[in-house]
Amino acid sequence: MIKNVAIFASGEGSNAQNIIDYFKASKNIQIALVVSNKSTANVLNRAKNSNIPTLILERHSFFESNEVIEQLNNAKIDLIVLAGFLWLVPKNLIKAFPNKIVNIHPALLPKFGGKGMFGMNVHNAVIEAKEKESGISIHFVNEEYDKGKIISQHKCIVSENDSAEDVAKKIHLLEHEFFPKVIEGLLS
Ligand code: GRF
Repeated sequence: MIKNVAIFASGEGSNAQNIIDYFKASKNIQIALVVSNKSTANVLNRAKNSNIPTLILERHSFFESNEVIEQLNNAKIDLIVLAGFLWLVPKNLIKAFPNKIVNIHPALLPKFGGKGMFGMNVHNAVIEAKEKESGISIHFVNEEYDKGKIISQHKCIVSENDSAEDVAKKIHLLEHEFFPKVIEGLLS
């Protein structure tokens, strides 16, 4: 049976696009739903361009009801992929999808994780700390930001002259290379 993936994203969605493209021709895995908390997020345009159904989250129903769980069950979702999703995943959703929610974090956790550590904040912190390397962490999601079990990590070098923007570019390359493969591995 084909496995259904829901991608949750809040912004640009370059990872979402990359995952959509990677599985476009797959007979075993399909991106069945793209979910966003932000009605203006570019990721929703990307989903529409690929004819993938979208769902816009409403704060109250997401945090205080089981509506979203029901919608995910109706879509027969097997795996939830967070790709730049900025809301904390509520307990009821984690319980309904045990070890079936994965996140990508743009640093080598446990370093540079936690609340407020997203986007350029992460890369700026890496530069300020004069790190010699950074990378990505793909991990299961539990009830705390960036604390779930790590599935895999991939590293890149941070050179002395790198700006935070340079690091961001390196990280995106790693994300695009490895995230779809890890998703594929989890579902096969
Ligand atoms: C990525 O760096 C990812 O690690 C994260 O947010 C960023 C999303 O980028 N947590 P994009 O929207 O996929 O381009």
